[in-house]
Parts: sequence; structure tokens; C-alpha cells
Amino acid sequence: MVVKIIDGKQIAEEIKKEVSAAVRDLQSKHGIVPGLAAVLVGDNPASQVYVNMKRKAFDKAGMFSQTVNLEASATREELHETIDRLNTDARIHGILVQLPIPEHLDEFDILKQIKPEKDVDGLHPENIARLAHGREGFIPCTPYGVQELLVRSGVEIAGTRAVIVGRSNLVGRPMAQLLLQKGARGDATVCVCHSRTRNLAAVCREADILIVAMGRANFITADMVKPGAVVIDVGINRVEDPTHPRGYRLVGDVDFEKVKAVAGAITPVPGGVGPMTIAMLLRNTLVAAQQALSKRCPGS
Ligand code: GUN
Repeated sequence: MVVKIIDGKQIAEEIKKEVSAAVRDLQSKHGIVPGLAAVLVGDNPASQVYVNMKRKAFDKAGMFSQTVNLEASATREELHETIDRLNTDARIHGILVQLPIPEHLDEFDILKQIKPEKDVDGLHPENIARLAHGREGFIPCTPYGVQELLVRSGVEIAGTRAVIVGRSNLVGRPMAQLLLQKGARGDATVCVCHSRTRNLAAVCREADILIVAMGRANFITADMVKPGAVVIDVGINRVEDPTHPRGYRLVGDVDFEKVKAVAGAITPVPGGVGPMTIAMLLRNTLVAAQQALSKRCPGS
């Protein structure tokens, strides 16, 4: 079987171009530059890399971004004050608190402080509820990116059996909600698996679309995949590699080389889902700026 390698980098570039064109339009017609504030608590190296990548993508798209760095010892009050300030800052249309945050802080308590209309990460309870009710709202960027990747690659979702491995708030749960929604971008029969799932391999083998977000390098092996299935790898894991200049390389949750011999289509790591997350963050921030404008000037 000839496997299709789904090129997330190329599809993300298409989306970024569309966003850039809309940003130029917003700026020339209304003088508005969509802006994002990323709040980074502590010095988690992976989070620093992600936030830098987001900053560069915003610069390139002609959008504004700022990073607010807080000490790892920052208190709940400091974080709330920071978010309150950004909630009322007119230059900022989107706010993102990079996760994970230090353990002494309660993620739910922090995320619900963000104004829902600036919650471009789609993690505020109001946006989670909107997604669960099938209403418009901001959708978390990684699952939104996976859905977009499927649609733009011509993968039929409706009527298929989708298996999601991982039940995180960032990926697994919202992914399930998205694929369950009515319409051609959803209408899947969805199953969510996790570390306590019995006979995980057999459940995965039922998938027409297998989406893996569990954070374990090369966990999905060829025997866990139905021939011809579409395999989407959300994992980004560092594995030691002395032959690599950085001393490590990035691999997904799927054993790419073995699984690609069985799958009908598969995303690589890197160059699959990762670039899509950033593209969807750009798009959500653009939409937040457009919505802020239409609230200020209805009919614009
Ligand atoms: N950490 C890893 N991925 C994400 C993401 O999409 N959003 C936030 N806020 N933190 C993350």
C-alpha cells in the first residue's frame, strides 16, 4: 500500500498565508494589528522553545506579540493581576498561559481568569462548554489543527471510527468533542483511550482515524494499526541521540518507520501536527481581533 505522508508544515504555511492576508486587510482598513500576549511562568525549556516559535510566527504574519515572563515562584495573585491587566489592554486580542504551570498554581483557577473573548487557546470553561454544546467559540489550537489537517488533506471524517489515545484537556478531550460535532468536519464515532484502557492495541486496530497524544515515544507500533488507517501523531518527545548536534532528536508517539508500512496516511514528527498548532493560534488571534472590532463597530 502506498502511504500518504501528510505534510503539516505545508498546510500550516497555507493557513499562515491566509491569516497574513486578512491581517493586512484589517490593518489597512481599520488600523488594527492583532496582538497576542503569552504568559510564561518559570523557565521550563520546552515552554521557552514553544513561546519563541509562537513569537517568530506572529512577527512573520505581521501580528503583534509580547511575552510576559513570571518567576516560577509567582503567586496566584500575581498571575491574576497579570491576566487582569492583559484583559483590559486594547493592543492584546489574545491571551495564552503556556502550560504546564508550576504545581502550586491551579490551572483551572488561572485559565478561568482570562476573558473568554481573549481566550485564543480555547481553555476557559466558557469556551470548553461552547465546544461541548456545539456552539461557536475558541477551539484549542492543537485539536483544531488536527481537524484542519484532516479536512485539508481530503480525509473523510463523517461516519468513520476515530480512536483518540490520550485524555488531556489540551488535546484528547477537545479532540473528541470536535470529531463528534455534527457536520462534515465531525460526525465520527469517537472512542477516547487512556492509560487504563483494557486491550488498547485491539481498540486502536478498530480505528479508521487514529489520533495519538499520550507523550510516550514510539508507543504505537505497526500491530496496533488497521491497514489503510489515517494516523495522526500529536506527540513530541525528546530522545537522546549522541549523533545529533543537540544531543537529542524529536520523535512522536508513533513508531513512524514501522507504522508507515501499514497506514494509508500518516503525519511525521516534526513537520506534522506541530506547525498546525501555531497556525491555528494565529488564526484564533486574528478572529479575536476581528470580533473585538465588530463589537466596537457593528457592521464593520
Ligand atoms: N503547552 C503545550 N501545548 C500548549 C498549548 O497548545 N497551549 C498552551 N497554553 N500550553 C501548551
